[in-house]
Amino acid sequence: MRVKKQIRLAIQSNAGGSGKTTMAVHLAYAIGVKGYKVTVIELDQSGSLKRFVGLEPAPPHKSMAKVLEKEFDGNYPFVSIWTDHLKTVNVLQGGASLEGSIQAIISTLASKYHVLAHCLEDYPIASDLIILDTPASLEPMGKVALAAATHVLIPIKPEFKDTDGAAELIRWYNNTVKELRLKPKPEIIGFVPTRVDLDFGPHKNILGVEREKGTGKVIRKKNVPEEETLPYYIQVLGYDCFPIVRESSEYINASGYGLPLQIHRPGNNAAKDLNPIVNRLLKTLRESI
Ligand SMILES: Nc1ncnc2c1ncn2[C@@H]1O[C@H](COP(=O)(O)OP(=O)(O)OP(=O)(O)O)[C@@H](O)[C@H]1O
Ligand SMILES: [Mg+2]
Repeated sequence: MRVKKQIRLAIQSNAGGSGKTTMAVHLAYAIGVKGYKVTVIELDQSGSLKRFVGLEPAPPHKSMAKVLEKEFDGNYPFVSIWTDHLKTVNVLQGGASLEGSIQAIISTLASKYHVLAHCLEDYPIASDLIILDTPASLEPMGKVALAAATHVLIPIKPEFKDTDGAAELIRWYNNTVKELRLKPKPEIIGFVPTRVDLDFGPHKNILGVEREKGTGKVIRKKNVPEEETLPYYIQVLGYDCFPIVRESSEYINASGYGLPLQIHRPGNNAAKDLNPIVNRLLKTLRESI
C-alpha cells in the first residue's frame, strides 16, 4: 500500500448492463499497472465478474458471502488476477451465495447496511484502491457499497430516459446518505456515458457530440443546443460528466479471454476513453502519498 488514504470507489447506476463491471475491471488494471494495489469487491449475486477476469465461480466459503457473515474473522478470500501481467490486482468474488447475505441484510435493522464498512474498518484491506462492483438494483447492495465508499462513479447508458435516471440516482444517493448518516458523505466523482455509439444518431443528439471526420476526435455537435444534452443536465444537477466511453466489440472479445482490453489489445483506442477517469483517481491517490 502506497497511499495514506485509501480510495473506495463504488461504481453504481440504476440501470442494468451500463458497463459497471467492465468499468471496474478496466479501472483496476489501469491503476494496478501503475504499481498501486487494487482490490475489486463484487457485491453482485450474478457473479459476472468472473467472466471478465478469467475465474471460476467462487464457492460460498471463498466468496463475499463469507466476508459479510457475522462470524467473519478477517481472513479475506482474495484471488490474484492477471498474474502473468501484474502482481497488484486481486478480487473478492460475489455470486449466488450472496443471496443469503442479501436476505440477512434486508431482514435486519438499517445499520446492517454498514456490514461491509464495519468489516473494512475492523479488518482493513491493504490496497490503495478498492473498487466496489454493484448490481443493477440499488437495494440492498447499492446501500452496502455506498456506506463503505469514499467515492462514487456513475456509468450511464445514454438513452432518452436517462435524464430521469440521473436525477433519480442523485435522489437515492441523497436519501441514502441521510438514512445511513454517512459522514463524510462519499464524493460523487462524476457520471460517465458508457457504451456510446457515435454512428447512432440518438446517442449523438443526447450527448451533443460527434466524431470529427478524418481525425475521429470527439467534438461538440453544433446543431444540438448544449442545454438539451445529458452532460449539461448532469452539470445542472451539480456533478461532473466525464467524456464518453465508446461501445466497442473489443470489450466483449477481451472478456471472452478473461482479460482487460489493455492486455488483450495493447494500444487499442477504446481503452484510452477511460484515461480521464484513471487520471482523476491517480490524482487523488498521489495527493495522499
Ligand atoms: N464499452 C463497451 N462496449 C461494448 N460492450 C460493452 C461495453 N461495456 C460493457 N460492454 C458489454 O456489455 C455487457 C454488460 O456489461 P457489464 O457486465 O460491464 O455491465 P453491468 O453494468 O456490470 O451489468 P449488470 O447491471 O448486469 O451488473 C457485457 O457483455 C459487456 O462485455
Ligand atoms: Mg455487473
